[in-house]
Amino acid sequence: MNILLTGGAGYIASHTLISLLESGYGAVTLDNYSNSSPEALRRVKQLTGMEFKAVEGDAQDRELLVRIIRENNIEGIIHFAGFKAVGESVEKPLMYYRNNLTSTISVIEAMLETGVRNLIFSSSATVYAGDNLMPLTESARRECINPYGWTKYMSEQIIRDAAKAHPELSCVLLRYFNPVGAHPSGLIGEDPSGIPNNLMPYICQTAVGIRDHLTVFGNDYNTPDGTGVRDYLHVCDLAEGHVKALAYALTRSGCDAVNLGTGTGYSVLDMVNAFERVNGVKVPYVIGPRRAGDLDECYADPAKAEKLLGWKAKRGINEMVCDAWNWQKKNPKGYKD
Ligand code: WQD
Repeated sequence: MNILLTGGAGYIASHTLISLLESGYGAVTLDNYSNSSPEALRRVKQLTGMEFKAVEGDAQDRELLVRIIRENNIEGIIHFAGFKAVGESVEKPLMYYRNNLTSTISVIEAMLETGVRNLIFSSSATVYAGDNLMPLTESARRECINPYGWTKYMSEQIIRDAAKAHPELSCVLLRYFNPVGAHPSGLIGEDPSGIPNNLMPYICQTAVGIRDHLTVFGNDYNTPDGTGVRDYLHVCDLAEGHVKALAYALTRSGCDAVNLGTGTGYSVLDMVNAFERVNGVKVPYVIGPRRAGDLDECYADPAKAEKLLGWKAKRGINEMVCDAWNWQKKNPKGYKD
């Protein structure tokens, strides 16, 4: 069975691609490489020894999607493609709404035109409102505070409504918590362009000497050590969650939202300390002011994923920080090396 991965050269998509190929699926990737590198796909071929087709193009292009589906007998789509920088989305909201929503609509239209029924959507815990009690279940109140989050919220709604209008569709909305780490080979990993927004790539770039120090955004939160608590999830666990979600989608029709998180929260300093302890490297840091919009804590109730998909995260904090560092030290400049 052949699966189309939009945004297929991206961080989470390239790890999911490995899991799909190793699970016996065929795959086609579609990526315009605006925020990723074809080198990631070359390395997936090197790692797995398996072939797959890589198409360069834009997931907003419905005709291109239809052509890829027809030419490759696609039976399911995992829709990763989208802009994902929170700060940039505040500066350029229309660019985010146009790109992220048009691609979601184009994917669904192409599915309806060709009879593809199965869709896995890359959503995010960012759709949850900031006043929910922890841990977050899928029925927690949803509200966003930036255009990026709203594009995920709105894409979920577009998919939900399409599934209502077309009962043959089978959709799973995967709400990622905080993906970190890399494939244990160190050949593929997170390669943010410019200054990293997220904690783990910033820690890695500090440890390898690209950044002078980490700034901890506030230590006066209502958490055990005062720094922000998040549900960090190994990207390989996340990848395996997509394969489980696809297998589930093939058994039924309808639309479900599912959290992909470990259910365990770690603070910023927990991550820094684990990174230093496991990897034997120093991560100099200073305590700075809070970052606007950050929550004290955010972590998942992962029960539905286990019940519905038969998925549970297996990798702990030590593997997360070890594999993140293994990628960074082997690729100090990411795929540009
Ligand atoms: C984690 C913690 C920061 C950087 C974001 C997106 C969300 C999702 C996951 C896509 C927080 C602290 C961070 C730094 C720091 N992405 N931090 N210094 O904000 O939980 O979620 O990534 O869907 O949409 O919002 O992740 O890694 O940015 O921050 O102290 O230089 O690390 O305050 O407590 P976040 P993050």
